[in-house]
Amino acid sequence: MRIAISTGGGDAPGLNAVIRAIVLSALQRGWEIFGIRRGYDGLYIRGRTTSLSATHVGQERRKGQSQGGLIAMGPEQVRGITHLGGTILGTTNRGNPFKWPTRQPDGSILEVDRSDELLRAFREAKLDALVSIGGDGSLQIAHDLWKKGIPAVGVPKTIDNDVVGTDSTFGFDTAVSTATDAIDKLHSTAESHDRVFVVELMGRYAGWITLHSGLSGSADVILIPEIPFDIEKVCQKIRDRDAQGRRFSIVVVAEGARPYGGAIVLKESAQRGTVERLGGIGAVVAQEIVERTGKETRSLVLGHLQRGGSPSTFDRLLALRLGSAAARAIADRDFGSVVVYTPPTVSRLPLSAVIGKTKLVPLDSGVILTARSLGICLGD
Ligand code: F6P
Repeated sequence: MRIAISTGGGDAPGLNAVIRAIVLSALQRGWEIFGIRRGYDGLYIRGRTTSLSATHVGQERRKGQSQGGLIAMGPEQVRGITHLGGTILGTTNRGNPFKWPTRQPDGSILEVDRSDELLRAFREAKLDALVSIGGDGSLQIAHDLWKKGIPAVGVPKTIDNDVVGTDSTFGFDTAVSTATDAIDKLHSTAESHDRVFVVELMGRYAGWITLHSGLSGSADVILIPEIPFDIEKVCQKIRDRDAQGRRFSIVVVAEGARPYGGAIVLKESAQRGTVERLGGIGAVVAQEIVERTGKETRSLVLGHLQRGGSPSTFDRLLALRLGSAAARAIADRDFGSVVVYTPPTVSRLPLSAVIGKTKLVPLDSGVILTARSLGICLGD
């Protein structure tokens, strides 16, 4: 068997641990295993020499035997990477083979279907199976490639925790810890200055990161996409705290949160070959708070810090378990499937069962009920 691994979409802590688990599990079975550089780019650039993006340590030993953007992976290439953030293979969120953004002579961008070329490259490289590690977009691509004839297995990844069918995605736990740490640090400065702080967090259309870190970090107001907010309720909470002598407040807001009847704030709308970029709601909420309460207010966007750093123990274990489960799925020839975390076990679902959907926070979830019973304002 000759297996290839692709990491696509935004990076997430734990990606390297999955790569290590797949590589070692494959080698144990006597398979050959290759890393595809930067999503699927590596299959298109065979013939050119590339190396793994191990910027951290041991760059030389990680180079591996490179056939263009396909890198032969052995124990040397994956040694000591479980705790490293990012992905040694590199990634891109502009690498959809079915909608490849291609610049035209007049400067405009056209989406070109290069999936036939990819299938040809896959076959020319004599590959037998593909493991695609990614979020909803990458799993959709894996599904479409499988339909086209590439034996593919998916591994769900995203800090947003919004992939359906899996209790949790690796990267989420680490992102929540990073966000909680940031909220913790704001408490002392907010209290010292009697200020309101508004922290905007990632998560796209789901509020998992914001809800979990807001509750763990003792935020006073938590605004998530699943619960459209009334800004007056937010301001009343801040006034009530002032009246009780708590002259500072921490508001956490998910990038996808929006007011009743309002729209999500975008940094950039979808262009050809890219998805829309969310962001800006934190500043909007902060401005409203200033105008309505007169309180000195600061806002910050935690941004890509949430994607960085060493994966937590939970994320490492989850990633290692999912990686070895992906190798088992290949051994069973269970293609068109995705490995998922269904505590206490790891199991499999058809890729078709998880794509095109978003796992939102259920309104009756225990975490929401806990936040409400602690008196945290959810903006409704
Ligand atoms: O999906 C992960 C994520 O970090 C989202 O939370 C965020 O909206 C998006 O990716 C940011 O993407 P980019 O890296 O393109 O700015």
